[in-house]
Amino acid sequence: MLTPKILNKQFADIEKEFVDFMIEHFGGWKIWADASQRVADRQEVREDDLPPAFRTECKIMKAIVEMMHLGTFDWNNPKLSEMFKEMAESPFYQVFGKTLADISLRIAELAGVKTFIEIGAGKANLTSIMLERMKQSPVSLPVVTTDVHEVVLENISRLGAEYPGARLETHLWNVSEPPPESLKKTVQKPALIYERYTLNYANLSAVKNMAQVADILVLGDWFNFTGELFPYDEVFQKIGAMPLFYKDIKPILDECFPNQYIFDKRATDTINLPTVSLLICWK
Ligand SMILES: C[S@@+](CC[C@H](N)C(=O)[O-])C[C@H]1O[C@@H](n2cnc3c(N)ncnc32)[C@H](O)[C@@H]1O
Repeated sequence: MLTPKILNKQFADIEKEFVDFMIEHFGGWKIWADASQRVADRQEVREDDLPPAFRTECKIMKAIVEMMHLGTFDWNNPKLSEMFKEMAESPFYQVFGKTLADISLRIAELAGVKTFIEIGAGKANLTSIMLERMKQSPVSLPVVTTDVHEVVLENISRLGAEYPGARLETHLWNVSEPPPESLKKTVQKPALIYERYTLNYANLSAVKNMAQVADILVLGDWFNFTGELFPYDEVFQKIGAMPLFYKDIKPILDECFPNQYIFDKRATDTINLPTVSLLICWK
């Protein structure tokens, strides 16, 4: 049985490590928010003048603004791919992935979870962190990975070779639609869905589809609390990453997963970060 009080107690160590990191890492977010207006306006911004946490994002934003200006935006541009790879290998991405995996594993112990499902697994970066953390934990569960794009099948099968003991299964699932029957059949309840940065490429009502297979969600998206958007939000929106507002997801969660716990609220409160990044929700 999960309650906010139990989560608060059981996660105190993970919360401290993650939120202290966020406060340190993202403390200068306003400097980047202001500089991003100049990037949007194609004025000069030197990455070295920004806090390290935002330098890769600045490089990516510059590349997007430039390609948009020339009318040549291309996801497959090798320079852009290299920058996204750099982002995925950045300290925050690693700490964020590890925290997400550790939260899911600890909930699995507390709530007797029988299946993990990952949505938007993509390049399998998060899956790989999950399998590594699982190896070091007392929990060993089947992980059903899903994505809307077929490339996930290849990525996960490569990962399967690295983790021969892992129970991995892969399904194609566009979370904007109900889960496929094949997926529903394979999932043993209670099931937990974990994800990172997928909902902003789908839509919030995907949560209703997720509720058809999952009892617990660990959501790793940035949910905007204040309603205020910044130039970087506007530019990333142009490549399909929609900003998500907490006020919009809250009623959907209340309907499908009425119990919710905001994991990193202390970061928002301490540095006035306009977003939260980790929500735990359960039925
Ligand atoms: C930014 S990537 C995140 C990858 C991975 N979750 C991680 O954290 O490393 C977004 C992923 O969401 C997937 N995606 C986008 N729209 C989706 C949808 N409607 N249903 C399922 N997956 C989707 C993309 O194919 C991509 O793999």
